[in-house]
Amino acid sequence: MHEACVIMQHVPVYFPERYLPPEQGHNATTILSQLTLYIITAMFFNVFYGGSGVIRDQARPSFSYIICVYGDIAMLKNKNIVLGITGGIAAYKAAELTRELVKRGATVKVIMTQNATRFITPLTLQTLSGNPVYTDMFTLSGDWDIHHISLAQSADIVVVAPATYNTIGKIASGIADDLLSTTMAATKAPVLICPAMNSNMYDNPILRSNIDKLSALGYLFMDAGSGELACKAEGAGRLPNPIDIVEEVETILTQKDLKGHRILITAGPTRESFDPVRYISNHSSGKMGYALALMARRRGADVTLISGPVSLPVPVGARFVGVSSASEMRDAVMEHIEGATVIIKAAAVADYRPSTPADSKLKKGAGRLDISLEKTPDIISEVSKKKGNRILVGFAMETEDLIKNARAKMKAKGMDLIVANELGLPGSGFQHDTNIVKIIDPSGNVEELPLMDKRDVADRILDRVLEISDAGKG
Ligand SMILES: Cc1cc2nc3c(=O)[nH]c(=O)nc-3n(C[C@H](O)[C@H](O)[C@H](O)COP(=O)(O)O)c2cc1C
Repeated sequence: MHEACVIMQHVPVYFPERYLPPEQGHNATTILSQLTLYIITAMFFNVFYGGSGVIRDQARPSFSYIICVYGDIAMLKNKNIVLGITGGIAAYKAAELTRELVKRGATVKVIMTQNATRFITPLTLQTLSGNPVYTDMFTLSGDWDIHHISLAQSADIVVVAPATYNTIGKIASGIADDLLSTTMAATKAPVLICPAMNSNMYDNPILRSNIDKLSALGYLFMDAGSGELACKAEGAGRLPNPIDIVEEVETILTQKDLKGHRILITAGPTRESFDPVRYISNHSSGKMGYALALMARRRGADVTLISGPVSLPVPVGARFVGVSSASEMRDAVMEHIEGATVIIKAAAVADYRPSTPADSKLKKGAGRLDISLEKTPDIISEVSKKKGNRILVGFAMETEDLIKNARAKMKAKGMDLIVANELGLPGSGFQHDTNIVKIIDPSGNVEELPLMDKRDVADRILDRVLEISDAGKG
């Protein structure tokens, strides 16, 4: 992986390869233009937030936001997205979808069916996309383009959201009687269809068979969500959340270099109860493990995410197993280990639990309360015994002697990599969207990564997993 690194205000910032515009290559001009944009923004924040140059986490929370936003912007940079909007009540959500795609750097060209224009105005979509909105096949325009051909050819992906029962039926039957259906007939780009309709329409066997037919032909679908629909009915038929659609677009456009891998990831804290209402836990937010699950999914891996209690969305397409205590986490890991090719243990599992949890709530007494603790199951040791050819990645978080302790842990548990996390560095560790880690391998090599978005850290860890896997095949 090629990376451009700049030391800005004592904070090194990486721009991983996948964030750089592929068409232009990774030449100096490209990198420089990315960095100039970044530096101008960073200077702006420096002027307005002040400071001596060292960016302190709490003093400038916007810093990690800059990194996240820049990551997002570059993620879809230079991607041409044709967004088809059809005449369903969820058409208004296409405004948010357009906004989010543009925010992440995509060029969005909107095609609306005539019926879609009854639900939301082309002006709204034109304003949000910053591009002309196409509604008619036969309108004379100032250019010589045949729009359905030029749009079809320029698209990296065509997204139809919301997709009506009618439009899905037309595509499945090969009907091309308006600009959207004709563009879809003419494109060779991947097509992502997001149905949204009344639940009876969604259950209708004609729609089901149209979806099956199109899926078999390589069209991609997102399942509709469930809940209360605009028509007041309850059931499946809601347009997926626009953010989930964007995530799916990013997934489709990401190289599938982890295809064939089945990755088991643990994330979040565990809770060890000492009475029915109280527990001992830790500060883990689960963000690192969830970032790993998201990036592994995007890169084509089959992902099982075993998570302690956190409030994060499960990455689309990941198999989710929710647990609470260390012992539940152990059971879930042992149940799912068989099919896994890679195990990444990012969860912050409690080492100790109350030895005799009370059956009823402990009353506040006059004196002190002593709780005796016993060891929880040592999950990684058990995993290590069943490791076989699987690649095992662990995490270590220490307050002192980080490298020494991490190395000892890696050796004792037979890991292939350990990711060492130092507590107390600004922007690193629990709760943050960013992290500063060192990746250590069994030969003792230490790869020190600078402050990075957790998704980029995840990508780097997955790159290393892939290297180990490829070396094993050789
Ligand atoms: C108020 C209203 C809401 C509608 N919502 C939906 C919907 O959510 N999904 C759908 O498939 N059709 C819905 N329809 C029906 C479509 O508008 C209709 O099938 C139309 O022919 C779709 O045209 P299009 O696919 O060319 O956009 C709705 C109609 C009305 C009047």
